[in-house]
Amino acid sequence: MTAVVRPAIEADVSSIARICSTSYRDAYRDLLPEGYIERSVVAFYEPERVAKEVSPAPPDWFGYQVIEEDGRILGAAGGGMSGPTAGELSLIYLEPAQRGRGLGTLMLDSVTDQIRAAGGTEMWVSVFLGDRNGIGFYRARGFQPMDTVRAALSRVDDHIVSLRMCRQLG
Ligand SMILES: CC(C)(COP(=O)(O)OP(=O)(O)OC[C@H]1O[C@@H](n2cnc3c(N)ncnc32)[C@H](O)[C@@H]1OP(=O)(O)O)[C@@H](O)C(=O)NCCC(=O)NCCS
Repeated sequence: MTAVVRPAIEADVSSIARICSTSYRDAYRDLLPEGYIERSVVAFYEPERVAKEVSPAPPDWFGYQVIEEDGRILGAAGGGMSGPTAGELSLIYLEPAQRGRGLGTLMLDSVTDQIRAAGGTEMWVSVFLGDRNGIGFYRARGFQPMDTVRAALSRVDDHIVSLRMCRQLG
């Protein structure tokens, strides 16, 4: 496998926006209401929003990471610190056709290294309750379910719940 994970640059903005939007819609179309999906894609993955967040703003945000193979961007991830020893994986998305090749693990490892380097001893992630693929991926990489919270951008009447998962960093 020749895929490499690297920090994103401005020229990656359109690829990140496209992959995150496509992967988000694909991953959740059977799980979440369409209105919520489109609201989230607009809020998080419009190119203008991605452009503002390409650069790191540590320790809260380490900047987008991308995974590139043969000159093509195939996925994006990002995280930061949410406390002195707690890190957060904020997003991880791959082109749907690229799943199951270990590329998600490479991106997860890269964000994990950033969290460790910033003094993190635990790593957290939010995943939608009922997202069997996402939960399966995180469980396979040592995350345990801890708590449930109202999902980001969820309104009182749509009851979208996220599962908070955590793993200790050795
Ligand atoms: C989640 C995602 C980033 C994983 O990336 P990936 O490259 O497909 O995953 P990998 O090939 O690195 O798999 C890593 C491990 O997770 C496991 N895994 C992946 N999907 C799984 C599933 N649906 N159920 C159970 N285990 C799963 C794999 O078996 C593998 O474990 P193993 O090596 O011990 O067998 C990718 O599938 C994706 O973009 N999904 C859509 C968006 C999403 O769900 N994001 C995360 C939720 S916020």
